[in-house]
Amino acid sequence: MAQLWKGRFKKELAKETNDFNASIHFDSRMYKEDITGSMAHATMLGACGIIEKSESEKIVQGLSEILADIESGKLAIDPGAEDIHTFVESELTARLGQTGKRLHTARSRNDQVALDIRMTLKKEIDAIAADIKDLLAVLCKKAEENKGVILPGYPHLQRAQPIAFGHHLMAYAAMLCRDLDRLADVKKRMNVLPLGSGALAGTTYPINRQMVAAQLGFDDVSANSLDGVSDRDFCIELAAALSLVMVHLSRFSEEIIMWCSWEFKYVDLDDAYSTGSSIMPQKKNPDVAELVRGKTGRVYGALVTLLTMMKSLPLAYNKDMQEDKEAIFDAIDTVELCLPVFAAMVDTLTVRPKNMAKAAAGGFINATDCADYLTKKGLPFREAYMIVGRLVNMCIKSGDTLDTLTLKDFRAISSLFDEDVYDALALKTCVNERKVYGGPAKESVQKQIELIRQFVGEHTK
Ligand code: ARG
Repeated sequence: MAQLWKGRFKKELAKETNDFNASIHFDSRMYKEDITGSMAHATMLGACGIIEKSESEKIVQGLSEILADIESGKLAIDPGAEDIHTFVESELTARLGQTGKRLHTARSRNDQVALDIRMTLKKEIDAIAADIKDLLAVLCKKAEENKGVILPGYPHLQRAQPIAFGHHLMAYAAMLCRDLDRLADVKKRMNVLPLGSGALAGTTYPINRQMVAAQLGFDDVSANSLDGVSDRDFCIELAAALSLVMVHLSRFSEEIIMWCSWEFKYVDLDDAYSTGSSIMPQKKNPDVAELVRGKTGRVYGALVTLLTMMKSLPLAYNKDMQEDKEAIFDAIDTVELCLPVFAAMVDTLTVRPKNMAKAAAGGFINATDCADYLTKKGLPFREAYMIVGRLVNMCIKSGDTLDTLTLKDFRAISSLFDEDVYDALALKTCVNERKVYGGPAKESVQKQIELIRQFVGEHTK
C-alpha cells in the first residue's frame, strides 16, 4: 500500500526502512478509534463549511462501512500499510475516489494519532476498572465469610498481633480502591481532545474543535498545539497507575504463595487454579500467583520505556513517540490478563482457620494486650510494657505462653493481675476489642466491607 507522503520522493522506500518504520502491526488495534475519530472530524468539516456537506456525509458513510466491514471480517487490515491511519484513508479513497481525499483537510497524523491513543486508552481504563471492581467484589465476599477467622499479623514477617483474615483481605481492597481512583484521575487528564493541533501549529481552517470534542466524549480541547501533538504524559501516568496495580497484585501473590506452603498451610488453592510438577507427584504449585508476581516486571518495564522515550525530546512530535503504543499496550494487556485469573484464584481458594489459629496461639501475639490490661488498671504503658517483657522472657524459658501461666505466676510479677486477665488475653477478645475505625474487630471489618461496596457503587455511576 502506498504511503500518504510520496510527493517529494523520487525513490521507493527501502524494504528495511519500510519494515522498520511501519507501525500497522501494533496500531491496527486502534482501527475503531481511528475511524470514529475521522467520522467526527469529517462531520465537523462539513458543518463548518470547510468541505461540502454532501461530501462530508459521503465520507462519514464510507467510514462507517469500512468499520462494519472490518468488524464483520469482510475487510482485512492490510499489514503492508504504514499505519492504521494510512490504511483507513487509503481504503476510503479506494471506495470514494476524490471525496475520500478530502478527509485529511485540517488534520495531520500527529494530532490524529494523539487522538487515537487517548480514545483507546480511555476505553482500556474502563475495562481495567471493571476488572478491579470484580476483584473487589470477590474480596468483600471472602472477607465477609472470614471476618472471625483469626491469624497473626506479620510485620517484619514476625508474629505480632492477632488480626482477622477478613481484615487482611480488606487491606488489599483498600489498595485497589486507590487504584480505581488513580485510574479515574489519569482518565480525567487524558480526556482532552488534541485534534485541531495539526502537525504542530494548528490550522488556518475555521474548524470547530469543541464540536469534535463533544461528539467524541472529551471534556475539553488541548490548550496548545505543540503540546497537543507531543504530550504523552497520559501514557506515562497510566503506566505508573498500572505499575501500582501490579505492586498490589504481586504483594498479594507473594502472601498467597507463602500461605500455600506446607510451613503455613493457611489456604489451599483450588485445583483449577494451581499446577503440578512433571517429576514430583506430590507437588501442587501456585503458578498463577507466581506468574502474576513475575509479570509485574513487564509493567514497570513499560513505565521506564515511556519515561525514557520522552526524556529530552524536543517539541513537538518525534517519531520516537511511535514507541509509546507497544509499551502501553503491553502494560494494559498484562494487567487485563492478570486481574480476572487472580480474582478467580482468590474466589476459589479454601481458608484453613485451624492452621491460622494454631499459628496465632504461639508467638505471644497477645503481649500488647497484656500490657494494655495493666495500663487499663492504672499503670503507665511503658511500665506495663516492661513487666510483660519480663513475663514473655519467663515463658520462653519455661516453654509457656502468656495464657498458660498461672495467676500465681502473673502475680509474682505484678499484683495488678487478676482472674480476668485470661479473658483479656483470649485472642478473640484481642481482635474483637480492636473496634477502632479500620481495625480488625468483626464490626470494623464489616464497616470496611460496606465502605468498599459503597465506593465501588459510586465509581460505577
Ligand atoms: N505511526 C505514527 C505514530 O504512531 C503516526 C504518526 C506519524 N507522524 C509522522 N509525522 N510521521 O506515531
